[in-house]
Amino acid sequence: MVKAAVLTGTGLPLEIRDDVEVEAPHAGEVKIRFGASGVCHSDVSMQNGTMFPNCPIVLGHEGAGVIEEVGEGVTNVTVGDHVVVSWVPQCGECFFCTRNEGYLCKKADASLASGGLLDGTPRFTSGGAPLHQMAATGSFSEVSIIPASGAVKIDDDVPMTVAALIGCGVLTGVGAAMNTADIKPGDTVAVVGCGGVGLNVIQGARIAGASRIIAVDMNETKLQMAKDFGATDVINASDGDPVGKVMGLTEERGADVAFEVIGLQQTIDQVITMTRRGGEVVLVGVPKMDAMVQIPAFLGLVLQGKTIKGCWYGSSNTHEDIPKLVRLYKSGELKLDELISRTIPLDEVNEAFDAMATGEVARSVIAY
Ligand code: APR
Ligand code: ZN
Ligand code: ZN
Repeated sequence: MVKAAVLTGTGLPLEIRDDVEVEAPHAGEVKIRFGASGVCHSDVSMQNGTMFPNCPIVLGHEGAGVIEEVGEGVTNVTVGDHVVVSWVPQCGECFFCTRNEGYLCKKADASLASGGLLDGTPRFTSGGAPLHQMAATGSFSEVSIIPASGAVKIDDDVPMTVAALIGCGVLTGVGAAMNTADIKPGDTVAVVGCGGVGLNVIQGARIAGASRIIAVDMNETKLQMAKDFGATDVINASDGDPVGKVMGLTEERGADVAFEVIGLQQTIDQVITMTRRGGEVVLVGVPKMDAMVQIPAFLGLVLQGKTIKGCWYGSSNTHEDIPKLVRLYKSGELKLDELISRTIPLDEVNEAFDAMATGEVARSVIAY
């Protein structure tokens, strides 16, 4: 039996249970003992009803650990391997995977909705009843079963706390800048929302060659961190309209590329407006189901020659991008240790949710 944090209903605190049973891996699956799990805003979005969880469910989708057992037919990892978990386990065979758009994998999507693995069923039980697992992961558990295609081998010397963050916030944020967007050297980029994901958009934009990076947040601590991650200008959105300020910094033109990394209607509207004619808007944050992209078709889009792109999982190919991010970390180009505001035991996960709400932390990381 293992310990795990379980969501039993919308709006409820997570229950720490120590009676969770984990089945052996089926064919094509692996057993992972987590070393660490980040606490990401999407975990909170499952709890507060922004997304629809299949309760009861073990949350957590930003994890790294060691392979303890492999199911039949698994060849990409072996027992003892250190791996980052990809919450989009690319099947490699569907329409999207075969077009190098694995982040849109059809099978992975189905497991996201079901709360199970690729066949739709979970491997956890508690008190005799099945427990679902978030995004084919469930990293708020000491041990889990995941699809082998969601396990990406990394070097043993990468700290688990750092490796965990690569699996969601880093891959999403850096990928938004390096894969989804088309940032050209010398570009001016605006990033609205400087949390765990937004800070990674900032460092991705820096690596992509942006010469000016305007960070927008409402929290001074985050704006200070944004500077440490590469922002050249910062705007506190609680001091008045950030759109006007971005215009003021860009000769009234707007940013070449603007990212929304929160998921709010208001900030989605803002990034569309603060992007220049011919520029690119990238929506990264996960909004509520009723949020809309609002833009006049002719005067706002056609005449402006603007592009609006949605970014899912950093448009990543996890099997290539995760090792690439590890290399960038090792070469010192990617700051990952600095993302970790606090390291906590699993029992303090509810406090980590509260800390995210106050906006003071970039990432809380559970260390097992
Ligand atoms: N204007 C500017 N900044 C804001 C505003 C606003 N109106 N509202 C919130 N913020 C800032 C917060 O201060 C915080 O720094 O947005 C940031 C959000 O960061 P986190 O809560 O750490 O969220 P993060 O984990 O980065 O995820 C951001 O990406 O993957 C998705 O589901 C995730 O939708 C979420 C988004
Ligand atoms: Zn996440
Ligand atoms: Zn696929």
